Amino acid sequence: MILLDGKKVSSLIKDEIAREVVKMKGSGLKVPHLAAMIAGSDGASETYVAHKGKACDQVGFKSTLVRLEEDVPEKVLFDKIDEINENTDIDGLIVQLPLPSHISEKKVVERIRVEKDVDGFHPVNVGRLLIDQPCYISATPNGIIELIKRYNIETSGKHCVILGRSNIVGKPMAMLMARKGNPGNATVTICHSRTGDIEAVCRQADILIVAMGKAEFVTAGMVKENAVVIDVGITRVESDKTKSGWKLLGDVKYDEVAPKCSYITPVPGGVGPMTIVSLLNNTLKAAKKEIYR
Ligand code: GUN
Repeated sequence: MILLDGKKVSSLIKDEIAREVVKMKGSGLKVPHLAAMIAGSDGASETYVAHKGKACDQVGFKSTLVRLEEDVPEKVLFDKIDEINENTDIDGLIVQLPLPSHISEKKVVERIRVEKDVDGFHPVNVGRLLIDQPCYISATPNGIIELIKRYNIETSGKHCVILGRSNIVGKPMAMLMARKGNPGNATVTICHSRTGDIEAVCRQADILIVAMGKAEFVTAGMVKENAVVIDVGITRVESDKTKSGWKLLGDVKYDEVAPKCSYITPVPGGVGPMTIVSLLNNTLKAAKKEIYR
């Protein structure tokens, strides 16, 4: 069994990005600049945004954090998005999800200028992914593709089963695995809450990508011998074995599944760090105007 070490690979990629930033500065270009917006004080969102800001610092990007109150009027948030859309120093904008319930996620996602949508959530970017046109790709699935690439895992002709059909992970993941290319050319099945006999479908997977948000859902009996298992789940649970009083669990029962796998991602240290470097890569592309001129 080989561990898909997202922490190590993401650190190598961050070094590559940092070198690119030095080159950009050397040729008189401005450094990439990412803005993040957060409304309210959801604990997990705070952690994610802090990680993104820290990653920007590590590679030499500029970053701006816009904090809004939980009860911020929709109009105020939209005005702030418009202001950032117009700010030529800012290359990329992300609005951390979930948003307070009085704010329309759909309207927010559509308000961000396509050229600055480094999350790849805008309908234009999602549509362009579907038809193989250059676009920003959602960071988690793109990070998984990068991990597969760096470990030279064969995907062509393989059966890839994806658990979860979210707009952010499951659906774009399916597109990336099925598209012509390397990685790609896989036969893809998406499973969800209405799938009948999900265990039997999982057992057919050469590559199993789990993004359901259900701690330790996948057990050894659901995994084919020598499968590649990629775990997107991160659930915080109480623990009396850690100093903090909690630990993170994936969607896969790691201890019993890992011995059956050819490759597997750990939680934490697998998909999570890859997601962050994908966001950095999208921001770099935005600064260089690689996708939209
Ligand atoms: N919430 C959970 N994942 C993400 C993400 O990748 N981007 C944003 N903006 N919010 C999230």
